Amino acid sequence: MANPTPSQAAEKHSSGTKSTLTITDNRTGKSYELPIENDTIRAMDLRQIKVKDDDFGMMTYDPAFMNTASCKSKITFIDGDKGILRYRGYPIEQLAEKSNYLETAYLIIHGELPTKSQYEEWEKRIMTHTLVHENIKTFVDGFHYDAHPMGMLVSTVGALSTFYTDAKNIKDAESRKLQIYRLVGKMPTLAAFAYRHSVGRPYVYPDNELSYPGNFLNMLFKMTEIKYKVNPVLERALDVLFILHADHEQNCSANAMRSVGSSQVDPYSATAAAAAALYGPLHGGANAEVLYMLDQIGSKSNVPAFVKAVKEGKGKLMGFGHRVYKNYDPRAKIIKKLADEVFEVTGRNPKLDIALELERIALEDEYFIKRKLYPNVDFYSGLIYQAMAFPVDMFPVLFAIGRTCGWVAQWEELLLDQEQKIARPRQVYLGYGERDYVMMGKSIGSLNCNRRTTRRTT
Ligand code: ACO
Repeated sequence: MANPTPSQAAEKHSSGTKSTLTITDNRTGKSYELPIENDTIRAMDLRQIKVKDDDFGMMTYDPAFMNTASCKSKITFIDGDKGILRYRGYPIEQLAEKSNYLETAYLIIHGELPTKSQYEEWEKRIMTHTLVHENIKTFVDGFHYDAHPMGMLVSTVGALSTFYTDAKNIKDAESRKLQIYRLVGKMPTLAAFAYRHSVGRPYVYPDNELSYPGNFLNMLFKMTEIKYKVNPVLERALDVLFILHADHEQNCSANAMRSVGSSQVDPYSATAAAAAALYGPLHGGANAEVLYMLDQIGSKSNVPAFVKAVKEGKGKLMGFGHRVYKNYDPRAKIIKKLADEVFEVTGRNPKLDIALELERIALEDEYFIKRKLYPNVDFYSGLIYQAMAFPVDMFPVLFAIGRTCGWVAQWEELLLDQEQKIARPRQVYLGYGERDYVMMGKSIGSLNCNRRTTRRTT
């Protein structure tokens, strides 16, 4: 969409007031009227603000994108103050209760819930793309015996670009569709191969008679039996966990997907970048930290002392707090309920009692109330994963499987957005001005330093 013209800018807001922002530059006394659209001003409209004609012009400075919208999106809505999460308008609570992951993935990618025939076609497409090239097995075999499964996933999903060179045709809608089937279909297989390698077990091929989560459990846990029998409660729990992780608007990994995708690279390479972003402990790794924290606390009776230490700044309450949610994370509420169903099958995770006590005490405490710190999605998810026999290293991998549909939806939305270009932020340069090169070992007055410098020889 083109920038509104000044006359458009002067258009009246529905309330009768003008939808513009007037800025006065006190350096020059000049005023500028900038259009407001969707409660934002365009950063490029600030460029006209200059002291001298040959100045570069005003920019915004926003490390970590604290208050900058990088795109317009129709995929996911979050209201962090009210604790609302919706995919394409549908509340997460309804999807978690009534939908399944593949249907939710269809919704996220296509924008609408599928009809019965659309769903059947979609499921068939995804499930017929679960197999990977045999060479991928050799590739996974090459990893060290104790390689982290997330490191293996990042590498193997990136390697898919070498198997599907047609994926470079990112402007071709049919090609994009095919890569999306492949990515959503193959992620569980790559994840399962990484797990089986790490425990030294033979790889299990997909069984397409099973559901998407059922097949994943089969590829992970099948031993010598002819047909793996999926526990329906665990199958449903995993499906719900995938739904809860399917998208979360412009989070760190979605931003990586868009940023790398904006170079017009193939989607496998962009997904590898997104998965790498997810690998970090501040993003997909927090639920593992919750488990370590609960182990450290050890028992319910130690909770008050632990909370006291957190309040004294001696650590964080992992699984609490969120950049966007300043209320109970709606996903955490669903997971808490799901935990009861899972524990009925697996037996209760003894750490649950410590977690419940932590939540009870924290939610009554002035420190957490004042800072609006509530449980986030990671507070209870690790407890469920552990009860389901997933090793801690697999937690971010499980997150990546669910999030793949969100990544590809964000990627396609980016590619179809006429306003988007290669992502390339500006910087505020605070380094040296021009200075002359100094030969090694020679001493010379620096152009921009007040002292004489000698270039080190070691
Ligand atoms: N425990 C104790 N105090 C906390 C916590 C916490 N978990 N989180 C924030 N605070 C405090 C901060 O110390 C700060 O206090 P101050 O105002 O006295 O300095 C205040 O609350 C505001 O915190 P910020 O760090 O400004 O919040 P920010 O939005 O930058 O951080 C984050 C959000 C990273 C999630 C943070 O709350 C945190 O580290 N939580 C623990 C890790 C975690 O659970 N991460 C998972 C997030 S969900 C996800 O990514 C899938």
